[in-house]
Amino acid sequence: MPPMDITPSGAEKEQTVSRKAEHVEIVLNEQSRAQKNWWDSVSLLHCSLPEFDLEEVDLSVELFGKKLKAPLVISSMTGGYPDAEKINRNLAEAAARVGVGLGVGSQRAGLLKPEVANTFSVVKDFKVPLVMANIGAPQLISQANSTVLNIDHGRQAIAMVGADVLIIHLNYLQEVVQPEGDTRARGVLARIKEFASALPIVAKETGAGVSHKVAVQLQEAGVKGIDVGGVGGTSFSAVEFYRAEKEKDAVRARLGETFWNWGIPTPISILEADVGLPVIATGGLRHGLDAAKAIALGATAGGMASKMLKPATISADAVVEALEVVIAEMKAAFFLTGCRTIDEMWQSELVLSDDLLSWAGRLEPHSDAD
Ligand SMILES: Cc1cc2nc3c(=O)[nH]c(=O)nc-3n(C[C@H](O)[C@H](O)[C@H](O)COP(=O)(O)O)c2cc1C
Repeated sequence: MPPMDITPSGAEKEQTVSRKAEHVEIVLNEQSRAQKNWWDSVSLLHCSLPEFDLEEVDLSVELFGKKLKAPLVISSMTGGYPDAEKINRNLAEAAARVGVGLGVGSQRAGLLKPEVANTFSVVKDFKVPLVMANIGAPQLISQANSTVLNIDHGRQAIAMVGADVLIIHLNYLQEVVQPEGDTRARGVLARIKEFASALPIVAKETGAGVSHKVAVQLQEAGVKGIDVGGVGGTSFSAVEFYRAEKEKDAVRARLGETFWNWGIPTPISILEADVGLPVIATGGLRHGLDAAKAIALGATAGGMASKMLKPATISADAVVEALEVVIAEMKAAFFLTGCRTIDEMWQSELVLSDDLLSWAGRLEPHSDAD
């Protein structure tokens, strides 16, 4: 690994590390989900005559050149503080055993503070079929009091976890509510383009969804895929609300409340992000039925974060069990819609409720061939 050429302040390092620990604590212990789960507004059409056996359902899929046993990834969550090592170890062991993808949390802490890099690199101990590294878009441009990450840092993040792709997460909703948020955004797209010219980049929202316009901008910037990270599940506005309350920051707490449910619903964002790239659908997936709905809408894989967090604090077996339940539910949904494969589910009919259709009503026309 090339030598670190960054000299972050002590405060910056500590802030990053303790923030990641607080996020996990809040998601485990507080109601930090959006008030409406938009997956309830999508229904699959029942098929009374599947004409194949349940055991014939084949959920395998290729994503970024890697073969997954099911169209599922454990979405980026954590790393960078001592307890995160166990969480990432359990997630990685389970992802390897079950054959699904895994993202680690933002690696800024690991890049700034090499002594915590092991809390991320532990995932290399397992044969996870698809590993996704992670850095934040705001850190790619100059911010007050924080280190700018360059392409070399991107390479280091990839090497740290043996990743197949590097996620650049877009989290301005969180940054705007967060007491110490990085709210400069000018120039980010050009930086994503620079990174994408050198490294395999996946752009990922973190709970506010991706619009068609942004999806086109990202595609033109050269990203390899988009995780739409829509609203409906974990709300980072909610998470930062709890942090702001604790810090007695009334303005940020109020922002957190006001923007609790902000964003594009995940199901709609899948349609919006239909620009010919693989789409990962993260945001509010509770079970395999939600994941099957995501595939029916055109995603290549569903992504689950918070649902895997509690089991990950217990053991790899607990995560395996949680994943196996999700896969059994997904198989049932495929069987009951008469779809044997991912390709068939992509072609399947579905029903959107009026509340979702009102979003779809403003979609710009785009080809349904891809
Ligand atoms: C504790 C926690 C930490 C997270 N940290 C990151 C992160 O570092 N980078 C990132 O891209 N997304 C992060 N996310 C967002 C998730 O990847 C995901 O987009 C979001 O939680 C919505 O999925 P869910 O409804 O299944 O939780 C985090 C989520 C949780 C719950």
